[in-house]
Amino acid sequence: AKSGQLVGKKVLITAGGTREALDPVRYLTNRSSGKMGYALAQAAAENGAQVFLITTVDRGNIFGVKRIQVESTQDMYEETRRLFPDMDIFIGAAAVSDFKAAHLAEHKIKKQSDAGLTLELTQNPDILKAVGHDKTEQQIVVGFAAETQNIVAYGQNKLIQKHANMLIVNDVSQADTGFSSDNNAVTILVPGHEPEVLAKTSKTEIARDIMTRISSLK
Ligand code: C5P
Repeated sequence: AKSGQLVGKKVLITAGGTREALDPVRYLTNRSSGKMGYALAQAAAENGAQVFLITTVDRGNIFGVKRIQVESTQDMYEETRRLFPDMDIFIGAAAVSDFKAAHLAEHKIKKQSDAGLTLELTQNPDILKAVGHDKTEQQIVVGFAAETQNIVAYGQNKLIQKHANMLIVNDVSQADTGFSSDNNAVTILVPGHEPEVLAKTSKTEIARDIMTRISSLK
């Protein structure tokens, strides 16, 4: 039999950087590796949860985790909204592109003599915000944020704006943490609680500590 703090719980996690197509061969993306999201999926599965991972990156299978592969923010948004009503916990660890191409070119964009190129971008939906606004009293929504300064102040703001139950702030100004690194250092924000700092360690350890904190919410 399964044991762990999350037995019987369904956990939905997003991971990786989204890809926004410009034309049939090009896209806009970011440096996210998806390592933190995969580590969270692993930790949730270890705790006995049924885990769904919506991701743009293939870092291999994890026992107990159902993967849903997507590319764009729009796809991630639609899959998240489709699955969320049945979930107990949502964790938005993906590095979502705030913008997408206003017009997807049907054919490869061509160089025009000496001229430059101006790309027109429009805003993507905010997945975390949508889920935070939709959640029921029973559901838990957790977000991430990358900040380089005023970590707690900016983080508290995001926690409130996105209606999240918990916000994990990555200090991306430190060397050897964040994006492609195997390590991370975070500050955990929960409404009505003092900020909690988790010192630099592996993403595996950070993920386990985060899952413990999430399990003890409510
Ligand atoms: O506002 P900011 O992008 O800093 O917030 C980061 C958090 O919001 C992350 O949890 C990220 O996954 C989520 N997010 C989102 N949809 C967006 C932008 C960010 O879900 N369009």
